[in-house]
Amino acid sequence: MKQLFLSILLVISLIIVGCKSQNKLTNTTQTSSIDQKVDSILALMTLKEKAGQMLNIGLPAVLTGDYWDSRESTVYNSEKFKQLIIDYAVGSIHNTPGYPAEKEGWYEILKKIQDSAMQKTRLGIPVLYGIDNIHGANYVNGSVMFPHQIAMAATWNTELTKISAEITSYESRAASLPWNFNPNADVALNPLWGRIGESFGEDPYLISEMTLAYLQGSQEKGLQDSTSTAVCLKHFIGYGAGKNGKDRANALIPENSLRQYFLPPFEKAIQNGAKGVMISSNAVNGIPCHINSYYINDILKGELGFKGVVISDFSDVEFLITAHLSAKDKREATKMAVNAGLDMIMNPYDADIVEIIVDLAEKGEIPLSRINDAVTRILRLKYELNLFKVPYNNPKGYTKFASQEHINANYKAASEAITLLKNNNNILPLPSTKKVLVTGYSANSINILNGAWSRSFLGRDTIYNDPSKLTILDAVKKQVGEANVKFVEGTDYLEDINSDKAVEMAKNVDYILVCVGEIPASEKPSDINELDLPQIQQDLIKKLSVLKKPIILVMVQGRPRIIREIEPLVEAIVMAYLPGDEGGRAVSDVIFGKVNPSGKLPYTYPKYSGNILPYYYKRPDIRDINWGYDGFYPQFEFGFGLSYTTFEYSNLIISSENIKASEELKISVNIKNTGNKKGKEVVEVFLKDLVATLSPDSKKLVRFEKIELNPGETKTLNFVLHSKDLANIGVHNKWIIEDGEFEIQVGGNPQNLLKKGFYYQE
Ligand code: BGC
Repeated sequence: MKQLFLSILLVISLIIVGCKSQNKLTNTTQTSSIDQKVDSILALMTLKEKAGQMLNIGLPAVLTGDYWDSRESTVYNSEKFKQLIIDYAVGSIHNTPGYPAEKEGWYEILKKIQDSAMQKTRLGIPVLYGIDNIHGANYVNGSVMFPHQIAMAATWNTELTKISAEITSYESRAASLPWNFNPNADVALNPLWGRIGESFGEDPYLISEMTLAYLQGSQEKGLQDSTSTAVCLKHFIGYGAGKNGKDRANALIPENSLRQYFLPPFEKAIQNGAKGVMISSNAVNGIPCHINSYYINDILKGELGFKGVVISDFSDVEFLITAHLSAKDKREATKMAVNAGLDMIMNPYDADIVEIIVDLAEKGEIPLSRINDAVTRILRLKYELNLFKVPYNNPKGYTKFASQEHINANYKAASEAITLLKNNNNILPLPSTKKVLVTGYSANSINILNGAWSRSFLGRDTIYNDPSKLTILDAVKKQVGEANVKFVEGTDYLEDINSDKAVEMAKNVDYILVCVGEIPASEKPSDINELDLPQIQQDLIKKLSVLKKPIILVMVQGRPRIIREIEPLVEAIVMAYLPGDEGGRAVSDVIFGKVNPSGKLPYTYPKYSGNILPYYYKRPDIRDINWGYDGFYPQFEFGFGLSYTTFEYSNLIISSENIKASEELKISVNIKNTGNKKGKEVVEVFLKDLVATLSPDSKKLVRFEKIELNPGETKTLNFVLHSKDLANIGVHNKWIIEDGEFEIQVGGNPQNLLKKGFYYQE
């Protein structure tokens, strides 16, 4: 009945609007018709209904038991359900029921919520369900779990990232989940930060390209397509630069750095149609992002022209009171946040915020125009996602869910991510005929390969693991035969288990594979005080090294944990990051040569805790104790990664040695596979501004491309730089290009960069 009432009103208002525009273009675009529909609903809404739309609760708030209980099934608390879904007509919900439902289970959940919202509330507006499906549809049981973002960045393959997002979207929509709290566009500047694994690393350009690829994979088919999801870029802004590396820690980001490094990934994705942005929980320069009107209203919605939904992070209005001490109570916090530009408040536990918003608006402390703007954005997204017509999706229609095709794409992503960091005397690939000891914390765990956000928030429950997925140990056994493999844990994450036994067993093998790693964690549980790889895991390697047998170190971790002391003790190092469900297979296939590694580090791997810099440092940062400029000592450089073949770069040509504004610079270079194996190479193009008023960075990545070459094959690659690539933020915090000399550096890493200088003149 209510639906009918709404539909009649909509038709009437469409006719009126239609009449008004008769003399104009009659060919109304889809967007303008959505805008008309949104305006029509908005005109019907009470203040309370508008405030309800601005609320995002957590699903457990309408279930029985405590919010944080883990559950085995969804049992609704009918009173709370009625209160939140029907009486308050909540606009949005996030989170899981406390267990990873199957796609059919999610369908039941969404059906119940949407049917209630659409049939039992006055206006029948569907709910917008958001979820953190951040590496595959990880909260849908049975879905494909991809490598985490840091590993996707290490592939340097935007096409693979796009495909991973397409599959994530498909498998999310199979579970009726249309809005994804991903991708993470944070610039990860502090290696202590526990969420580096969820980011695309330290480089603004690589992050921008990967974020764009993810966005395209999610949204490119159009949001009305039942396999698309709307993205929610996060976290705006500076989350990855917490000054002490702790979760949600204060970051100090001067305006020029904000614009040079932190905004570009968001800007590119917004220009290309990103539909959501989540505000970061931290404060920048002491101002909590959630109340920073300059960041949200002026920069995000103003300068970047963002038209989508700005949502808070989890309980962040509350956090303004309890953590930031910036507001005395929820009323004050809500007022500050909504006036700063927040459209939707993730207030997981209840609807108190609705009454607060109503009161603030009634008293004129939040302008009605601000409320209308927020609700317009929310309703627009619901229309764009076609939720009014298709509020949930029939899971039966998604026959490719967890299909072999999706699993293959996942395996490909994992195998292209794995980065070979050391390979003394080409010890890898190993022969499949020798005896191997497999040991270490991450050797026999699917959970460590998948990290956090894997079926459960911390990803530590083993009950949800797919028994068909192989740990590193399983995959090695498959490769060389059970009889050739010995296994002992050696250590736990922080404790010795049986390292002596590992040493004993190692006496009878040819190679020792030590798999170290980090405990699955995110947010607060991922905080650490020491970047070194836990001592006990290093000690295992030290003990084993006494035997003088070749040790292969495999690292399963998001962060670059310091390994300075053990690096010389091992013959090879394989960085697996958090490679997902197919990671065990992929690691083994790299070690035994079925896959020629082609990953490259998406961050600088530090060697010393007192020498932490991204590769785009400034010269005084690296002044050394001899007064020279050699004080940058990473363990491994950004962009570094070995292959089983070799590449040679030659014939770097640039189109001109003098360019002016609006002119392009064409670059070409030859790359030859000089080894005897087919291999993939990442061609990296850096630009160095030799002199600039605002002290120039050592260099910046401006282009890259991943190619595959057969032995002996040569390819010529062409790149075009535009003058805006030469721009940097100047002393007045604006993008400028200063006249003078620049240098193009092209190559792979470890190959030397070829260099060519040129002049720019306005
Ligand atoms: C995290 C976000 C996440 C949100 C919803 C927060 O605690 O910081 O990344 O999207 O929870 O689950």
